[in-house]
Amino acid sequence: MSIRIIGTGSALPAKSVTNEDLAKLVETSDEWIRERTGIAGRHISTGETVAELSAAACSRALEDAGRTAEEVDLLLVATCSPECGVPCVACQVQGMIGAAHAVAFDLNAACSGFLFALHTAWAYMEAGICRNALIVGAEVLSKLVDWTDRGTCILFGDGAGAVFAEYGGKEKFYFVQHSDGSKGGALTCDTRQLKNPYVEMPMEAPWIRMDGREIFAFAVRRVPEGIEEVLGKAGMTADDVDLFVLHQANYRIIEGIAKRLKQDAEKFPVNLDRVGNMSSAAIPVLLDELKRAGRLKSGMNIVLSGFGAGLTWGACVMKV
Ligand code: ACO
Repeated sequence: MSIRIIGTGSALPAKSVTNEDLAKLVETSDEWIRERTGIAGRHISTGETVAELSAAACSRALEDAGRTAEEVDLLLVATCSPECGVPCVACQVQGMIGAAHAVAFDLNAACSGFLFALHTAWAYMEAGICRNALIVGAEVLSKLVDWTDRGTCILFGDGAGAVFAEYGGKEKFYFVQHSDGSKGGALTCDTRQLKNPYVEMPMEAPWIRMDGREIFAFAVRRVPEGIEEVLGKAGMTADDVDLFVLHQANYRIIEGIAKRLKQDAEKFPVNLDRVGNMSSAAIPVLLDELKRAGRLKSGMNIVLSGFGAGLTWGACVMKV
């Protein structure tokens, strides 16, 4: 037995922001952003919270699965941009949708968050701890972005995606996960700092800071390695894979990964042109779009791969 993903859902903020809109804020151009990243637009919150977007995505995933919130055993939210330290987003969502019987908690592995949460939910189900799970990736990164830094503010978008998975499928899932904290300085965001009666630390700007070139080099090296590792576990090669659903950071990163795996770029669906980099929300939102567009056909071999701050990266092979 294994697990099956039987429902997907997503939610994006109403406001869409184009590259031309950003060129009014910082010295940049549509041409530069498209050429370097593949991004043309993104959705930016004008009030929607991580919890609200997550709840909307969860309701759609449950509707798609034909299940009710009362039936949910485990509710996991992957995010690095919660509105508050406590309560966690998952508990907020639990209250909003009425998942009264669920165990709910958050997990932060930045852009790998959804993949790590899916692995956690899979392990809970394989261990018999729960029979089903709502797994969410959700971010409102626009509150962590320095809107005067043209190197980062052009990259990110806000949104949430969710999948509902149940124990009982025949097809096995395979996972690999990795972390390298020694390289964590390549992408940071200081949101809370030590300040108490005994110590006062100098205040750093609480914004995302990134060494773009280091992240780029990390992604095009580690992600294909992780994908080959998980394919080895599954007894498959990249040629056996129908779709590679990757974290949507940058089109040039996806192209580089396709080249290293010697696979046609058409096997790598993208939505980052419309939604930008939504960190942990990227994979579940793309999965939902693919499912609703009828592109996930029964029996397909799908590889998911998340990678990002931490540094963290991981991959999964699954059948739909
Ligand atoms: N518009 C115009 N010029 C810009 C912009 C912009 N938005 N941003 C930077 N520049 C300028 C720089 O100031 C620099 O100018 P200079 O030569 O006069 O100093 C020049 O462009 C080159 O800057 P680099 O940072 O070296 O540009 P690079 O070619 O590396 O592209 C980018 C930057 C797109 C961020 C690239 O490094 C990249 O894609 N990195 C991957 C990072 C990523 O995707 N991060 C997402 C978060 S992590 C994750 O999701 C995995």
